Amino acid sequence: MTQQDKRPVQYLADYRPYPFTLSETRLDITLAPTGTRVRAEIDMQPKDARNAADLMLDGGAGLRLGSLTIDGAAPDPAFVRREGEVLTIGAAALPRTAFTLATEVEIDPEANTAFEGLYLSNGIFCTQCEAEGFRHITFYPDRPDVMTTFRVTLRSDLPVLLSNGNPVASGAGWAEWHDPWPKPCYLFALVAGELVAVRGSFTTRSGREVALNVWVRPGDEDRADFALVSLIKSMRWDEEVYGREYDLEVFNIVTVDDFNMGAMENKGLNIFNSKLVLASPETATDADYERIEAVIAHEYFHNWTGNRITCRDWFQLCLKEGLTVFRDQQFTSDMRSAAVKRIEDVQVLRARQFREDQGPLAHPPRPDRFEEINNFYTATVYEKGAEVIGMLKRLVGDEGYARALDLYFARHDGDAATIEDWLKVFEDATGRDLGQFKRWYTDAGTPVVTMTEEWQDGTLALHLRQETPPTPGQPDKPARVIPLAMGLIGPNGDEVLPTTVLELTEPRQSFRFEALGARPVVSMLRGFSAPVMLRRQLDDSARAFLLAHDTDAFARWDAGRDLALSALAAGASGEAGAGGAYVAAIGRLLADEGIDAAFRALCLQLPSEEEVATHLHADRTVPDPAAIHAAREALARDLAEAHEPVLAEIYTRLRSEGPYSPGATASADRALRLAALHLLSRIDGGERAEILFGTAGNMTERMGALAALVRLGRAERALAAMRDEFGSNRLVMDKWFSVQVMAAPPETAVAIARELAARPDFDWKNPNRFRALMGALAANHPAFHAADGSGYDFTADWLMRMDPVNPQIAARMSSAFETWVRYDADRRARARQALERIAALESLSRNSSEMVSRMIA
Ligand code: ARG
Ligand code: ZN
Repeated sequence: MTQQDKRPVQYLADYRPYPFTLSETRLDITLAPTGTRVRAEIDMQPKDARNAADLMLDGGAGLRLGSLTIDGAAPDPAFVRREGEVLTIGAAALPRTAFTLATEVEIDPEANTAFEGLYLSNGIFCTQCEAEGFRHITFYPDRPDVMTTFRVTLRSDLPVLLSNGNPVASGAGWAEWHDPWPKPCYLFALVAGELVAVRGSFTTRSGREVALNVWVRPGDEDRADFALVSLIKSMRWDEEVYGREYDLEVFNIVTVDDFNMGAMENKGLNIFNSKLVLASPETATDADYERIEAVIAHEYFHNWTGNRITCRDWFQLCLKEGLTVFRDQQFTSDMRSAAVKRIEDVQVLRARQFREDQGPLAHPPRPDRFEEINNFYTATVYEKGAEVIGMLKRLVGDEGYARALDLYFARHDGDAATIEDWLKVFEDATGRDLGQFKRWYTDAGTPVVTMTEEWQDGTLALHLRQETPPTPGQPDKPARVIPLAMGLIGPNGDEVLPTTVLELTEPRQSFRFEALGARPVVSMLRGFSAPVMLRRQLDDSARAFLLAHDTDAFARWDAGRDLALSALAAGASGEAGAGGAYVAAIGRLLADEGIDAAFRALCLQLPSEEEVATHLHADRTVPDPAAIHAAREALARDLAEAHEPVLAEIYTRLRSEGPYSPGATASADRALRLAALHLLSRIDGGERAEILFGTAGNMTERMGALAALVRLGRAERALAAMRDEFGSNRLVMDKWFSVQVMAAPPETAVAIARELAARPDFDWKNPNRFRALMGALAANHPAFHAADGSGYDFTADWLMRMDPVNPQIAARMSSAFETWVRYDADRRARARQALERIAALESLSRNSSEMVSRMIA
């Protein structure tokens, strides 16, 4: 273990304010690949002149300290100590009034393969400082509650030199930037490189002109328009819906190829993974376009929820992330289809967050301890964090929500805030007591809501019970407040009770509906009003009835989902022909031209095998990956055989015509067409897919066709053609790597992954490429969980290789193992062995060490 890795566990309860106030930070940075010089001057003042405190600054092991002065003079070395990641200057060596601390350090961006702090990506200097990267650039109080304005001078021969805020002045080989908004250092950024801008502009509603630039590598200009248009839409939307205006003269977005995450909201200078900016119909899929639009919005929205109001400490991460995800979800619903967006978001939540909640990595949206904060950029903090806000909005109503948000911005602008502050604005704005609601932030786990019905003399009683299974460190789970949106549908299909919200606050509670003529069918959890698992006794015919008649799009889709899941669960346990009701219901849906294409496409997608496993585990059944796979393949084939004519008709009729548009309507048609293709390819030998791959004019259909061919094991020619055409396009080649493993038949997937990993263009230090391959294997459920342990071993080998190079990426990918405890004893033994091999690695990073030890605890 290195010094850095020895840092103890951090606890929320240990929070103490920083004893100094900062009034300005000035940086003068001379860029060079292996020896970048960083001069920092920090104007600061002790908060309490009578009780002098030591000055503690964070600074990574890679900082080579040249000089350190206080008000121009070197302090007595007896009072200066550097231990691990902390530099301490004793109180005795500090003035009691305002002073300036100046340091000079040298760092090596070229050696930075962890992509944290300042690094080089294909010749572009760039930074990633969230969460704790700034300490690898200079000595600083690297914590979000220390905020100040920044003045930055960059020196380099590279043509484009960018930092936060507004440009002040520039000349040959230098540029100066000033950010007037006080910010924590995690929002600092710089970029230097040979870049070109795709330019636009935006006039704010108060009439200020903002210059917009999307900076890309020369040659990529023609793929940046969509991002620019998305940015303009986001800026307008935030003004219209939240009343939030942009606050600088310029907004810069830069794309880089090496990036650990999706993107970063640095003040006025967002840095993006190139896959979340660059798009053309020939290279990007509909899903890519939708994601680009959403992430551009997400990072832009952070300007208010994250930057103007930031987090007091990293335990509060979901304060900015949950809220910003919630806002970007609202934005996408407004730009596209609200119903489709809701269903997509629930699919993601169930696939990733429910699974996280079920295993050893479960944690609350606001954790109260961590070793390495980068391990907590999770589905729970982000997606469940957004769900919690959706519940809050439902409980206080749209108007209450709007009032609370106005109060939040008015009260906390310029603050580093907490979840307590957030809840308090809702209490103050609406008068509602949120004491019990707070458990959603502090308690981990997915509540299971069990519903039984009782019908007598025109009265329907609903008996509800809530229970949350124990999670690590939290054995007992008190009842939460759970908003359950529901309605009643009469036997003739008419709605007899429109959407009503039941508030479940007790472990057990009953609700009565009187004076009903005939027994209605209950439409429960409309709009997925709470992130819970609903258990109810509903037979297949009632589910099919809801799929046909529910007026709530989510609940309607979910009824179909339930039918599919029960068919798959039965199929996986060896029951033959279990899917009859589902297959028949899908037939009625397909024939109904009154139902929009997007909805039918969603209903045609079978639940993923991972989702089936999560569903079985919640029912205390040990999932058998091979049996689940076989059941899903059989059900797909049944659907295809039963509905071949209508599927073929849909496939032929929805042929793309005219120029490509990434909008909701056109992409819905493509989604339905591809869903039909995937089913048909089960019985046409792949003939249609082969033709489509050769003729499609857009990447959406080509990838759809390619996935079908890979599944059939007849993709060789298509793969070669794609490599010839796009060999030099990194983003397309990432797809090429990924699809071969993700869609491969389980028996061959690990061998294919092994072969691909040996290719010279498997540039594994690039996070996108690494994820393309390793993430694809993790997503191929029966292959990752292969009975012989080959999926586990292959993954563990690569995690061990990645860890010393890029610990963040290794640690994130290790979550592929997070479900290991739910499988059979044989698999558990093999998975544990793989995890123990990683744990035993000498000088394992703090990142991976925390993940692995939580998983084998
Ligand atoms: N704040 C960024 C976002 O959600 C995520 C950056 C996190 N980066 C990291 N290395 N943990 O938009
Ligand atoms: Zn974010």
